[in-house]
Amino acid sequence: MGSSLEVELKVRHEGAGGTTRACWEPHARALLAYESGHLDSEILVLDDLGDTDRLPASWFFRDPESLPAIERRALELCRGSVLDVGAGAGCHALALQERGHSVCAVEILPEVVSLLERRGVVDARAGSALDPPAGRWDTVLMLMNGWGLPETVAGLERYLERLDGMVSPGGQVLADSTDMRPFASGWKEEDGLRLALRDDGRYVGEIQFQLEFDGQRGDPFSQLYIDPDTLSTLSARCGWSVDLVARGSHGAFLSRLTRSGEDVRADVPSGTRPT
Ligand SMILES: C[S@@+](CC[C@H](N)C(=O)[O-])C[C@H]1O[C@@H](n2cnc3c(N)ncnc32)[C@H](O)[C@@H]1O
Repeated sequence: MGSSLEVELKVRHEGAGGTTRACWEPHARALLAYESGHLDSEILVLDDLGDTDRLPASWFFRDPESLPAIERRALELCRGSVLDVGAGAGCHALALQERGHSVCAVEILPEVVSLLERRGVVDARAGSALDPPAGRWDTVLMLMNGWGLPETVAGLERYLERLDGMVSPGGQVLADSTDMRPFASGWKEEDGLRLALRDDGRYVGEIQFQLEFDGQRGDPFSQLYIDPDTLSTLSARCGWSVDLVARGSHGAFLSRLTRSGEDVRADVPSGTRPT
């Protein structure tokens, strides 16, 4: 991590829905460059904490053996039909297909959808996490900071309601995140929540990013890093129970949401079509 590059990020508080294709285009271009043989392609990831990271495009093509433990656990817990939201290059979708699951992979970028198809994902669709394909799935899967997709705490509240229409009876949501509360510089009580804050008064896990590939920078966007307690409180308000089913290093965790009072249906066979 370094902070040598000047980061000028617009602070946007509008919540889920602010992310556009223009934010993720450098990511898409890096994936396509890797696919076409530029194996050393890297995405520059700038954030409004002043850090700059270089993320190898190869990471998005990781095979099942090199998945982090949290992601391996998520794949083990998948049941029945799976909606892989923000599927990237399809490392999870392909592994799940291999195990016999029916998988619908959703990507905000059409060029990434084409990549998913070329890589063998049977059902890849252009769409947004917030406006997913019609249907209900036994498992909604979101990995590599899956809770980042709702962008803000306010966006998460809306997204938790939206998920109710995406998950079949007895179904589940599996998504990972990282608890950023150790970096809080203050706290506030608001609407029944005890929120950890950054210096600027925002929730500690609302981070602005900007991606760059090959000298071209995308638009800034927000990603959410939710802590387990806030996730549990907000989920309960929308009728979801949260289990922390795996923990990783540096505050990383995998959450499983099921409807309160429901158990995950263990009897759902792999390959079930969405209803
Ligand atoms: C951090 S990457 C994770 C990719 C993949 N899940 C993985 O673990 O390799 C996030 C992915 O979500 C896609 N994405 C971003 N915002 C989205 C949205 N609102 N709806 C659907 N996909 C989105 C991006 O294009 C990107 O491929």
